[in-house]
Amino acid sequence: MTAVTNKMPSPASFQKMKEAGQKITMVTAYDYAEACAVSASEIDLILVGDSLGNVKLGYDSTLKVTMADMLLHTAAVRRGAPNKFIIGDMPYMSYHLSCEDTKQNAARFVVESEANAVKLEGGNPSRIDAIKAIVDIEIPVCAHLGLTPQSVTRYGGYKVQGKSEPAHEEILLQASAIEEAGAFMLVMEGVPELLGKKISEALNIPVIGIGAGRYCDGQVLVYHDMLGYNPNIAKFVKKYQELATLSTQALNSYHREVREGLFPGEEHVYYPIK
Ligand code: KIV
Repeated sequence: MTAVTNKMPSPASFQKMKEAGQKITMVTAYDYAEACAVSASEIDLILVGDSLGNVKLGYDSTLKVTMADMLLHTAAVRRGAPNKFIIGDMPYMSYHLSCEDTKQNAARFVVESEANAVKLEGGNPSRIDAIKAIVDIEIPVCAHLGLTPQSVTRYGGYKVQGKSEPAHEEILLQASAIEEAGAFMLVMEGVPELLGKKISEALNIPVIGIGAGRYCDGQVLVYHDMLGYNPNIAKFVKKYQELATLSTQALNSYHREVREGLFPGEEHVYYPIK
């Protein structure tokens, strides 16, 4: 098991950052190489999101992602980022069936994959029970409200949530219940800016936004969206790089140099023929 160093942040560190008005940065990562890149950065924490299904496995939703997928990828991220606080995303149906099942699945993230915390979606009464059950076995929980991608079938697509007055009020109530249940952090996704602001102001725990406006306590982006690997990005994404384009350019350079006899050069050869 990776040693927890004094430098490893904790839920209390993120709470202090909120209290000090210091914005929290989170990004997703799914494998060793991505985790190494995040590990070398100043980003505060990593989410091994079940968006794995979309950006790494090519599914059209997150619903097919399994516990086995998530445990494998979370463990790889831990190996690449031993210095970062890592949240493992509980996949669809891993916390919906019974409290026993929920606790066992949450524990597997910590014991087998060395995650520091888990995330689950929703704020209805059974989700509140799931949060309480996981917190009760000493595992920190990050909740997720608003546009929760595992509810895509019920929504009929990926749509901004909390637009009507009743929906807005319902999400506010769920956010308070989540804090009361003991979650240490809340991800708010795909809601009007006013709702993101109200929830961030109302809760003591940090609220991390993705498409939830400018007033959240921090932001999370999907690695592939922000680095330019995903051609279909939402309005809330800012692309900080165009790595897919750069990768294709590099692959074409390699292809051309091999065809033209320029690669390998003498410097890449063992005991070159003189
Ligand atoms: O799976 C994921 O990447 C997420 C983020 C979008 C918050 O849940």
